Amino acid sequence: MSNLVPPHGSEKVLPLLVTEEIRASEIERAKVLRKVSLTSREVSDVFMLGMGAYTPLTGFMGEADWRGVCDDMKLADGTFWPIPITLSISQDLADSLNVGDEVALCDGESDEILATMVVDELYKIDKDHECQSVYKTTDSDHPGVLNVKEQQPVNLGGTVRVLSEGEYPGKYPDLYLRPLESRALFEKKGWSKVAAFQTRNPMHRSHEHLAKIAIEVTDGVFIHQVLGALKPGDIPAEVRTEAIQAMIDNYFRPDTIVQAGYPIEMRYAGPREALLHALIRQNFGCSYLIVGRDHAGVGDYYGPFDAQNIFDKLWDGALVTQPLKIGITFFCKKCYGMATGKTCPHDPEHHISVSGTEQRRMLEEGIEIPSEFSRPEVVEILRSYYASLK
Ligand code: ADX
Repeated sequence: MSNLVPPHGSEKVLPLLVTEEIRASEIERAKVLRKVSLTSREVSDVFMLGMGAYTPLTGFMGEADWRGVCDDMKLADGTFWPIPITLSISQDLADSLNVGDEVALCDGESDEILATMVVDELYKIDKDHECQSVYKTTDSDHPGVLNVKEQQPVNLGGTVRVLSEGEYPGKYPDLYLRPLESRALFEKKGWSKVAAFQTRNPMHRSHEHLAKIAIEVTDGVFIHQVLGALKPGDIPAEVRTEAIQAMIDNYFRPDTIVQAGYPIEMRYAGPREALLHALIRQNFGCSYLIVGRDHAGVGDYYGPFDAQNIFDKLWDGALVTQPLKIGITFFCKKCYGMATGKTCPHDPEHHISVSGTEQRRMLEEGIEIPSEFSRPEVVEILRSYYASLK
């Protein structure tokens, strides 16, 4: 019996990636099927399904699941789920498909066959309804909303068999852990209370402090970073990984921390995405998700603690994994140390904070970043990245 949290809505993690023995023959068989070309977000969802991160989903959602998720954060069978996982196709392609057909899902960029799918349903959605329910806005300046609006007009629901993990395992051999592997690793370490730290940034001292607060009350922290596509201007995964590793090597006890990455693409849905992040971490075996300020937010669409508060609105049993809610973290010159809004009584003028834009300018122009804000080992890696962009 494992001491880790159970997977979401299932006794077992359900990876949809077919076994290695039959993969080549399945790919051969898929070559004659009708091709469906996927966007990068859909590709990332296929990889998430493949590794079992979306347990208990068995494929892309049909209409009843889509509606239940938008309106009540529930799949049609009542299982908690906060964001639609859908696949869209053109009207022309939809007109030529029938329920029961099998199709090959291909990467829209490389054309590689990634999965096969048996079509259960073809349906149209009200995109504004999805945006309003999930993103709390229909403003196309919101990158997640724009993605929904740019979807093709017909959704395709059905069971998926995944045939590839793309370039991830080769590109990130040490970082790319599947849920069954992270679970095995935690068990080997004797961890049962594990906190996940979701991130798409190199880690500064504010992030380090969040992770260290979590370590105080758990067996260890799983630094779990986004390897899927990000917004323009975000720092690439290779650079972030190196910066995070420099922080871990110099400022953490090795037996309290694991760095890994997963193939999700951010939707920037703030509170709803924080819930999805917690659900996914449950599948990876984590009992907590660290939720700080404006988790998975973008611009000013969400309040700084909306992503924490939404967990209070869930019904009993919706999720086993719980949020570890932590206030805004910073270095306070008066406290002379890292603090949070909950522990520090001093005015903001005593706090050291550098905005993302400001930091970028400082790095580009070679201006020194205060060591109270970011560790020098991390700054050095970021500085050479920005220098390489010139
Ligand atoms: S994201 O998924 O939330 O977009 P990001 O890397 O920006 O990733 O943040 C990672 C985690 O750190 C989130 O839980 C976020 O709320 C938290 N966080 C980032 N900066 C701070 C801060 N200064 N104070 C408190 N929490 C923070």
